[in-house]
Amino acid sequence: MTEPLSATRLAQPDWITESLALGLAEPGHESLQRRLYRLLRGGIQLGRLPGGSALPASRALASALGIGRNTVLAAYDQLLAEGFLETRHGAGTFVAHHALGQVQQAVRPATATSLSQRGRRLLEQSRGPIGESGAFAPCVPDFEQFPRDIWQGLLQRHQRQAPSHWFNYQDGGGLPALREALCDYLQLSRSVRCQPEQILIVSGAKQALDLIAGLLTDPGDTAWIEEPGYRGAQASLLNAGLGMVPVPVDAEGLDPARAPASPAPRLIYTTPSHQLPTGVTMSLPRRLALLALAEAQQSWIIEDDYDSEFRYSSQPVASLQGLAQSERVLYLGTFSKVMYPGLRLAYLILPPALVEPFRITQARRYPEGHYPLQAALAEFIAAGHFARHIRRMRGLYRGRQHCLRDSLAPALDQGLQLSPGESGMHLVAWLPLGSDEQALVGTGERHGVILRPLGRHYLGGQTQAGLVLGYAGVPEAEIRHAGGLLADWLTPFLKEI
Ligand SMILES: Cc1ncc(COP(=O)(O)O)c(C=O)c1O
Repeated sequence: MTEPLSATRLAQPDWITESLALGLAEPGHESLQRRLYRLLRGGIQLGRLPGGSALPASRALASALGIGRNTVLAAYDQLLAEGFLETRHGAGTFVAHHALGQVQQAVRPATATSLSQRGRRLLEQSRGPIGESGAFAPCVPDFEQFPRDIWQGLLQRHQRQAPSHWFNYQDGGGLPALREALCDYLQLSRSVRCQPEQILIVSGAKQALDLIAGLLTDPGDTAWIEEPGYRGAQASLLNAGLGMVPVPVDAEGLDPARAPASPAPRLIYTTPSHQLPTGVTMSLPRRLALLALAEAQQSWIIEDDYDSEFRYSSQPVASLQGLAQSERVLYLGTFSKVMYPGLRLAYLILPPALVEPFRITQARRYPEGHYPLQAALAEFIAAGHFARHIRRMRGLYRGRQHCLRDSLAPALDQGLQLSPGESGMHLVAWLPLGSDEQALVGTGERHGVILRPLGRHYLGGQTQAGLVLGYAGVPEAEIRHAGGLLADWLTPFLKEI
């Protein structure tokens, strides 16, 4: 079926024979029977052999093509079995009348319109660039600074020494050595209260969010989510069919007083150490109020502590999980910022009663693996490389944040406000509400500068405008250059302040 021809001509057995002969003459690795079958099926699917077309008799076709009759019979039999052909007693073999319609339905490419309503929302929520780097891609660490030699050595050794049962599925909730090393580190650095058994190692924070939503909610339950907030969490909770209630964030963090009094939330998602994207640290009174509310309403709090290792100005505030008298908090951390995102390792600290259901479900839904990698990471932490790397990066990122502020000095002089930057890897440059964020994004694109609009972080109506500027992964010279450009681009917007 190499050239398009009208259906009338195609229905003629001579033409079919010619066309098949040409198709079989092309080089191919499959058996003759398989190739003949594919050529005929392709012709039917593309409408070149319309319903009702008579196929040549098997003996005649075999002799015309110079192949065995059994080969032709086997190809016909398969097409008959699949419903592409039909036989009429005494009359021969024909293309089935219903075949084309059915097949066209089946082969029509999936378009966005075939997605479910939830699927379409999930797709919308998932759009946008991924894996960006350079000025000012948010949330990207500096990979160049990662101690690759040490890491490679550990990886190779643990890969070599791996016992053979590590090649199988695992169901332990993560390698015990990693959970122990992590537990020691978290107790010291984050005032988290836990035992190693409460830690579940997962493949990234989003997997943990999917598990939480799957195990602790039913479709239609209510979830509070920070507004503006983290798109990854918005997507996981939306996908679970939850009723999303965006709760405004102010200078003290998520404000429960501004959430509707009912229905009670089943889940509350928050980033209290360093709110994404505003950079606010949740105050202690707010933390206590949120914990009291969760206790009273029997809600679960997801505390996403994604980048609090990079704290520059004061001591870390005690985690919600550490403050909680009850056990309503699920603490989520990731290695994507302190190590690198491609590692795909994160962890969830669970209240003891939830450990078993989560471990069992995870082992089935997302079977665990990569234990040599986890062993390497356990040693990386236990041997002090992890803490050393964090200390180095903290110094480096603090310097880069200063550099970004300095490079924006002309705009700051004209009234630009930046987020406090007490911690983390990005700053927010606030703009007057109604500013054309997209125009700035477009200008940035034309100059190779990535500008993430604050509007992307809103689930409901946007109430503040700005740009989220990642600085951690960007060398100072690049920050100075791109920051200088940005200061110029911001000027017309600041005149409106
Ligand atoms: C708020 C927040 N939580 C968690 C993560 C990390 O997600 P993952 O562990 O899937 O890389 C990110 C990454 O940008 C984030 O911004």
